[in-house]
Amino acid sequence: MDDLVELLARVDLTVSGLTAPGVRLWLERDASCRPVGSTGYEMSADGRHALVRSVAVDPSARGRGRGTQLARFALDAAAEEGARTAWLFSRRSGPFWQSLGFSPASVDDLAAALPRAEQVRLFRATGQIALEQAWSAPLR
Ligand SMILES: CC(C)(COP(=O)(O)OP(=O)(O)OC[C@H]1O[C@@H](n2cnc3c(N)ncnc32)[C@H](O)[C@@H]1OP(=O)(O)O)[C@@H](O)C(=O)NCCC(=O)NCCS
Repeated sequence: MDDLVELLARVDLTVSGLTAPGVRLWLERDASCRPVGSTGYEMSADGRHALVRSVAVDPSARGRGRGTQLARFALDAAAEEGARTAWLFSRRSGPFWQSLGFSPASVDDLAAALPRAEQVRLFRATGQIALEQAWSAPLR
């Protein structure tokens, strides 16, 4: 968990709520055990929605498909767990998520699907939610 928090903080992603019950996380290490990527999601209470979070690649390892692989891994795992729709917040990486099948979505719809998700509660509490961009994609 320390290595994951360090990676997420380094790439400026939210580190709160990582240990909440519905959160699933993976950390990828290179051959020398250095953390190079992470991925994950938070399931809604009803198990139908997954909020993708913590998809990150160390800046030195970007642009070689690792981010796509890590994102697909989380989407596949969420679908296998029963989620029908994937959601996420992203202001900076829209084209990356569009290449994975995501479309712009309403922040209100995301918050209605995942009202108890850590990022939803945090962004509501800080007022940041009004500045966020939501994305969604159907899962098979
Ligand atoms: C987003 C991120 C995970 C992508 O990792 P990566 O290993 O570089 O991704 P890939 O190599 O699989 O890139 C796939 C495609 O998306 C594009 N892309 C990657 N990051 C992008 C970004 N921030 N904005 C726009 N396009 C991006 C790449 O150019 C590539 O396009 P191409 O196939 O036409 O060349 C990485 O840039 C990152 O860690 N960013 C900081 C954390 C973040 O914003 N995470 C997403 C929110 S959860």
